[in-house]
Amino acid sequence: MIRSEEFHTRRKRLMAETGPGSMVVVASAREVLRNGDSHYPFRQDSDFLYLTGLTEPEALLVLLPGREQGEQLLFLRECDPERERWDGPRLGLDRARSDLSMDDAFPIQDLDDILPGLMEGCERLYHLVGKDPTFDQRVLGWRNQLRARSKGQKGPGEIVSLEHLLHEQRLIKSSDELRSMRRAAGIAAGAMTRAMRTCRPGMNEAEVQAELIHEYQRHGCPPSYLPIVAGGANALVLHYIANDQPLPDDGLLLIDAGCEYQGYAADISRTFPVSGRFSPAQRDAYEIVLAAEQAAIECVRVGESFDAFHETAVQILTQGLIDLGLLSGSVEDNIEQELYRRFYMHKTGHWLGLDVHDVGDYRVEGETRQLERNMVVTVEPGLYFGDEDDIPEALRNIGIRIEDDVRVTAAEPEILTRSVPKTVADIEQVMRG
Ligand code: GLY
Ligand code: MN
Ligand code: MN
Repeated sequence: MIRSEEFHTRRKRLMAETGPGSMVVVASAREVLRNGDSHYPFRQDSDFLYLTGLTEPEALLVLLPGREQGEQLLFLRECDPERERWDGPRLGLDRARSDLSMDDAFPIQDLDDILPGLMEGCERLYHLVGKDPTFDQRVLGWRNQLRARSKGQKGPGEIVSLEHLLHEQRLIKSSDELRSMRRAAGIAAGAMTRAMRTCRPGMNEAEVQAELIHEYQRHGCPPSYLPIVAGGANALVLHYIANDQPLPDDGLLLIDAGCEYQGYAADISRTFPVSGRFSPAQRDAYEIVLAAEQAAIECVRVGESFDAFHETAVQILTQGLIDLGLLSGSVEDNIEQELYRRFYMHKTGHWLGLDVHDVGDYRVEGETRQLERNMVVTVEPGLYFGDEDDIPEALRNIGIRIEDDVRVTAAEPEILTRSVPKTVADIEQVMRG
């Protein structure tokens, strides 16, 4: 649970960066109509959620550092018993002040009347420029309204993107955030283990997906992205989401799935044999990916670069591909010429947080970034073998990926998803029941 003081601290920290004379505006996500009066599931905008904790649509956060009548303002929907009968409870203005520690709260329908006035005297306006072109237009509209309304008042001369300041803050996780991330990881790990236990020849990918979703939802957690439940050759489609095919009796099943807890994502991949027993060729390939993953995780430490764990994984995967007879020559040449990319075409990880591919720069001034304490990354090497003639038959149509969520520390990396079986012996044991 993220405490309301923490949201307050986040807003304070952001205001310390933007400084006096600035205004920050961050909008909630919008509900999206699917048809008639059915909506797509609502997911709060991660930036807005990070700064407010509010999970309602139709809201706008306004920060005015140094404003005497109040620095932290929230526009949101008023309580409305008639509407609440249809759509459920709303937080309302009073509780925005008390529960969310806002200095003041205003009805969202008054936004266009109030906001231009709040811009008076501001030199710089920070918002997430370009994230939503409609909102960009509204911001300009408010400034024009101020200019038209009060002669001599030009409003903020500079419109600055908030992205860098806010996303740098989101990149380093607080202890409250880590608690939520451990919880998301634990639930997602339980779901993955349940899928492993349940999987049997004769099942469909959809049935395995249902096990994952059941486990997430009984803990009150939605999926953090569309799950990938890919039997056999379907694992070669990196973003496979159809999840509706029968499982191959003797094939592998690649699952890449996670849930979110209070907005914080888990992102786990495991690959295991539908039958519960790896064939010798499947095992050979699996052991290479596992060795790459374990060695890569060892590089997730303070002071290592973000590229280091990818480079380590590529080294081990490339050596493995040579050992399997799929590449020839030296590891260095294969890496130099990127020949390994035929079998390993993605990166080994990404930031993880409120978004599954979380925000934050990967490079600083053109250089790969150093890892810092309490960043969280995924480590997810894989190998993918098509059905080309030059690939031994026993290895064809195999896709393997192993993915864990890892917190950067100065000592041992903390693997948030460590409870999911990963070695051949552990997987086979769990699948035997
Ligand atoms: N599940 C998306 C990813 O692994 O990056
Ligand atoms: Mn994943
Ligand atoms: Mn991932």
